[in-house]
Amino acid sequence: MIGENKRVEEMNYFELIAWLGIGSSHPGGFPATKQNLDAVQIKPEEYVLDAGCGSGLTACHLAKTVGCKIMGIDINSQMIEKARQRAEKEGVSHLVEFKVADVYELPFADNQFDVVIAESIAVFLDKVKVYRELYRVLKPEGRVADLEMAILKEMPAAVRHQMEECFGSGTNPLPFQEWLEALAQAGFQDVDIKNPQPLRDNGNIVLNELKKDWVLVKDLMSKINRQPGLVRRLQKNAGFMKRNRSYFGFGLVYGRKPTPPPLKLGFKDRLWQVLFRRKPRQ
Ligand SMILES: C[S@@+](CC[C@H](N)C(=O)[O-])C[C@H]1O[C@@H](n2cnc3c(N)ncnc32)[C@H](O)[C@@H]1O
Repeated sequence: MIGENKRVEEMNYFELIAWLGIGSSHPGGFPATKQNLDAVQIKPEEYVLDAGCGSGLTACHLAKTVGCKIMGIDINSQMIEKARQRAEKEGVSHLVEFKVADVYELPFADNQFDVVIAESIAVFLDKVKVYRELYRVLKPEGRVADLEMAILKEMPAAVRHQMEECFGSGTNPLPFQEWLEALAQAGFQDVDIKNPQPLRDNGNIVLNELKKDWVLVKDLMSKINRQPGLVRRLQKNAGFMKRNRSYFGFGLVYGRKPTPPPLKLGFKDRLWQVLFRRKPRQ
């Protein structure tokens, strides 16, 4: 069984959600995904990268509703295994491909994708480094649309420390303005936060997803029987989000890769153009 070779106490947050089989592991859950996809307006002929795709819920939804081609990548092989099973089950394997890959070093050539979507991945990583890599693989005029957690007010050091204990030491949500600055620093233009909002429910991603899905709950009971430490781990995360929800919001960090500037012509090329009214030699 996926991930069962590790004690729950030793699993990092990604391993935990992969083991539990949580489909929408980001703030706002699947309703936020749908709201954001409406804002991005992906067309059937566009090629989309889902960076940090998790178990592939968003990628398969996009394939079913838009019919575009999608590449999903995630560093966690359990997530990719679940994503492939999902695509198979939902009959979209001809449109969606999933690969184990690191978002810092994507196994794709430059200028491949029309759109890159991401949901709750950069919050755990070096934002500018991630966005530079997404910029590289996007075609000129391509869009990046990244759903991320933001902080709405200054977070005391003790709260930050608890957040890192629950979600991992690299966890670092930014104020909306700083998310935009990270995108601009990577070279994106027309940067904007779409659908910014505070966390409405208790913000606990794992428990919210479990509440909606009885299959997951049944599965959870057998996991608790095998690993009773799971209850403590879930309670810790739930308690943190309940106490500290007012610090957090989320939104779609959105930008566009600019068109490359026209090539600067050398003197000889300009002379050639003027004299012979020709395009410069390649
Ligand atoms: C919170 S989950 C979100 C998953 C999915 N986007 C969703 O919304 O359900 C973060 C995901 O990022 C993946 N991840 C973390 N670091 C990564 C990296 N360096 N490269 C690719 N994926 C990464 C994790 O394995 C995990 O599946």
